[in-house]
Amino acid sequence: MHFFKYRSGELYAEEVPVKKLAVKYGTPLYIYSYKTLLRHFRAYADAFNDYPHLICFAIKSNSNTSILRFIAKNGGGADIVSGGELHAALKAGIKPEKIVYAGVGKTEDEINFALKSKILMFNVESEAELREINRVAGKVKKKASVALRINPDIDPETHPYITTGLRKHKFGISIEKALEHYRLASRLENINVIGIHKHIGSQITKVSPFVEALKKLLVFVDKLSIQGVEIKYLDIGGGLGIPYKDEEPPVPKDLAKHLIPLLKDRNFTLIIEPGRSIVGNAGILVTKTLYLKKGEEKDFIIVDAGMNDLVRPSFYGAYHNLLPVVRKKRQAVKCDVVGPICESSDFLATDRVINKINQGEYIAVMGAGAYGFSMSSNYNSRPRSAEVLVKGREHFLIRKRETYNDLTRNERIPAFLK
Ligand code: LLP
Repeated sequence: MHFFKYRSGELYAEEVPVKKLAVKYGTPLYIYSYKTLLRHFRAYADAFNDYPHLICFAIKSNSNTSILRFIAKNGGGADIVSGGELHAALKAGIKPEKIVYAGVGKTEDEINFALKSKILMFNVESEAELREINRVAGKVKKKASVALRINPDIDPETHPYITTGLRKHKFGISIEKALEHYRLASRLENINVIGIHKHIGSQITKVSPFVEALKKLLVFVDKLSIQGVEIKYLDIGGGLGIPYKDEEPPVPKDLAKHLIPLLKDRNFTLIIEPGRSIVGNAGILVTKTLYLKKGEEKDFIIVDAGMNDLVRPSFYGAYHNLLPVVRKKRQAVKCDVVGPICESSDFLATDRVINKINQGEYIAVMGAGAYGFSMSSNYNSRPRSAEVLVKGREHFLIRKRETYNDLTRNERIPAFLK
């Protein structure tokens, strides 16, 4: 559910016509709906209300400071995977004691930064990393709180590129090895074991992989308990899918209904790391039609948003619904909707049947709020787009469009070329 709706044939972001925003701020333009964000955040908070929990928003899905500030103001925490994300979280006012830090390649500098910031815990992905965190913590005379990320070998039945919890993946520690790793962690002088973590993939459209993975984890937690290792924080990761096309993914309430009964009589604080299911459908990318081109085999709609603005279609073959910003009665045509970038994989859609559109008209790429702007780049020396947040009748620029000067700002010319 989101608040981008047609009124008399015009697409609105809450109470504001999308076309008005496109004209005012230019395109390509990311537009977010505050009301949708709030609805999705509350859906988690309400669903898990009866169990001690912490919602750690996955910053990689959208790291705009205003979005993070919204999370902070609603009591949320953050799931981070880099020093940059830690910086963004703290700057936005997310409390360090609500920050969990995953990722297979944490550097010494990043570990130091996290220790200094007093985050809740590191989600450790290997023995080597555990030893490194212990070493770095020792150097600065601190104790690092950790959870071990378990790879439960569960297939979430999603796109192979966003599946993470199978044995063949680089993420986490297998259940077989985990007991040994926990024993080691308990022995290490500067490590404080407080949790267990898993994340099996993204855009998951069924409850069952979450249930199976949690059951596996709980059997393991009982084994740990016998060994004298007590777990306080149980972090189940993110991964809940959203409807891009015709998927009918479970909502947080469905997840809670199946997971909480498995946790009752246990004294955990549950951590959830949603990204896409909070911000995905709360954002759209608006693009302008530059040219219509009749190719030899295909018809093309050439728009001003490229794979540098939204890479998901090119990268994963992801489907995003395309809607005309002003709906007119026109015949349907089959075409590729492509960007200006010099790559054949630069498309928003291929062989898509959509209503005919004219040069200069706007298209809304739906479901672009997660892994949209955050995966955007400057490829082809294209300034990254602006971002706008709509709240009711109001709209706020939450990130300025980059300028040409921004593109070259950090570059230096060595003396011999001067
Ligand atoms: N926690 C961890 C440890 C993760 O690695 C991720 C996402 C999340 C939470 C949040 O997952 P979500 O609730 O958003 O599904 N770029 C891809 C998605 C990559 C997801 C990476 N990890 C895409 O555009 O589909």
